[in-house]
Amino acid sequence: MNVVELVEVTKVYNLPRGSIRALDNVSVSIEAGDFVSIMGPSGSGKTTLLNIIGCLDVPTSGRVAIGGKDISDLGDDDLTKIRRDKIGFVFQQFNLIPTLTALENIAYPMILRGVNGHEERSKELLRSVGIDEKLGENKPNELSGGEQQRVAIARALANEPDIILADEPTGNLDSKTSKALMVLLKETNERGKTIIVVTHDPVVAGFTMKTFTLVDGRIV
Ligand SMILES: Nc1ncnc2c1ncn2[C@@H]1O[C@H](COP(=O)(O)OP(=O)(O)OP(=O)(O)O)[C@@H](O)[C@H]1O
Ligand SMILES: [Mg+2]
Repeated sequence: MNVVELVEVTKVYNLPRGSIRALDNVSVSIEAGDFVSIMGPSGSGKTTLLNIIGCLDVPTSGRVAIGGKDISDLGDDDLTKIRRDKIGFVFQQFNLIPTLTALENIAYPMILRGVNGHEERSKELLRSVGIDEKLGENKPNELSGGEQQRVAIARALANEPDIILADEPTGNLDSKTSKALMVLLKETNERGKTIIVVTHDPVVAGFTMKTFTLVDGRIV
C-alpha cells in the first residue's frame, strides 16, 4: 500500500516581488515500510515537500493522500488530527520546548492525545534512543546537540506514528553521532515505520532504500 501519495503537486508562494514555484508538478509514491531520502540543492523544495506530506502545509494544486486517505480537501482541524495521530516530525532545529524537561517534551504529544501512562512510556522512549534516564530532568539547553536530536526523535515516536518525517536530522551533528542516529532510524524503520529523511549528506542517504532528488521543485 502507498502510505504517501502525491499526484501532480505544485506549490506556489506568492510574494510582493513575484511568485516562487517551490514544487512543480511533483508526483511521488511511498510504500508502507519504506525508508526514503530526499536530496537536492538548497532551495529546491525539500522542506516544502516534507511539510506537505506532514500536513503542515497544503499544495496550491494537486492531490495528496496519507495512509490511503485523500487529504487534499481537508480543513485545518482534520489535518491537525492526522498530523497528531499518524505523523512524527523531527525538525531541523529540534523545536523542543525550552521550558520543559526532556521527559516532558517526549510526553507532550501523548498528553495532547490523552494517552494514559505517558510518564512510564516517556522514560522507555528516552532509554530507547540511548539517553541515560538521569538526563530526563534536563531542559533542552542542558543537553548536547546530539542528545537534543535524540529527544526530538523520541518525541516523534511517542504516539507510534505510521510515518516519521525528519528534516536534516543530522545537519548539526558530528559524523559519529550522525551515524548513531541513522542506525536508530534504521531500527525504527525495521519495526515497521515509514521514514522519510531530508538530507544533504550522501552517507545519510546511504542508510535509506531509495533516494528522490529535487532540483528547482521537480523530481529528477
Ligand atoms: N513560506 C514561504 N514563503 C515564500 N517562499 C518560500 C516559503 N518557504 C519556502 N519558500 C521558497 O520556496 C523555495 C523552496 O524552499 P524550501 O524551504 O522547500 O527549500 P529546501 O530544499 O528545503 O532548502 P534548504 O536545503 O536550504 O533547506 C525556495 O525558493 C524558498 O525561498
Ligand atoms: Mg529545507
